[in-house]
Amino acid sequence: MTMQTDLYCVMGNPVEHSKSPWIHARFAELTGQSLHYDKRLIPLDGFEAAVRAFIVEGGRGCNITVPFKFEAAALATRTSERALLAQASNTLRFDKGSIFADNTDGAGLVNDIQRNAGMALTGRRLLLIGAGGAAAGVLGPLIDARPASISVANRTLAKASDLVTRHAALALLQKTELLASDLQGLEGSFDVIINATASSLSGAAVPVAASTLKPGALAYDMMYGPAAQGFMTWAREHGAVARDGLGMLVEQAAEAFLIWRGVLPPSQQVLAELRATLG
Ligand code: ATR
Repeated sequence: MTMQTDLYCVMGNPVEHSKSPWIHARFAELTGQSLHYDKRLIPLDGFEAAVRAFIVEGGRGCNITVPFKFEAAALATRTSERALLAQASNTLRFDKGSIFADNTDGAGLVNDIQRNAGMALTGRRLLLIGAGGAAAGVLGPLIDARPASISVANRTLAKASDLVTRHAALALLQKTELLASDLQGLEGSFDVIINATASSLSGAAVPVAASTLKPGALAYDMMYGPAAQGFMTWAREHGAVARDGLGMLVEQAAEAFLIWRGVLPPSQQVLAELRATLG
């Protein structure tokens, strides 16, 4: 009798540079789980067909990256609360006849900030810059960490307002003040500033004033590698502690691994190894 190895993958476009196959292979090794995880480049108009074909192939779950996170949430038969709030999913699990959609991006961010960077969020003043898919994916879990306030600032104010409105009930429950702002109208300074915009990708300047940084603030870019450097350099020049999104990447993967396998992998070890390989 042959045992079939459980299949997983990451679907995206582009997906070539994804570190997820490496991360999940390490998680599997370190937890003694038998699985195969690869990356799949999906045509822009072929996401749903690719998911259905992967299920037929025996796929047990997949991670979803740009630009399919919204479609992923929409095609699920069951959706977690946090994926519903985000209206986006980065993790699908295929159970018999059903597709479960979750979103582990926010938990990944919060775990990296609190556990790996050692900054407790409860009672802090947070600034989330951006109101696109990346920001939507993390706002719910940030509120659940019960900061004193979160200001969502975006170039297009209406998008920040929409995001805040959608999260108002959760914020009320957690006693977190939630505010929407444009990039110029920000008042005061913040303990934690999170860059969830695509601005550094296009080489644009950091979109907020340096006065938003409290001395010693944590300035977090959700990207990593060259895309995060502009924001991090700016933050350090203004007395902040800068951190890239590599830890978020590993921690969101750890949460996905838990959803699929029921085992929490040693994410801090894998993050240290990944940083070492990236030099
Ligand atoms: P993602 O899924 O990565 O969040 P997105 O949904 O296209 O991508 O959102 C991109 C975010 O980056 C938005 O908040 C966008 O601001 P707008 O809503 O005003 O478009 C922000 N952004 C992109 N380029 C920017 C720039 N040069 N300056 C400031 N904000 C920028």
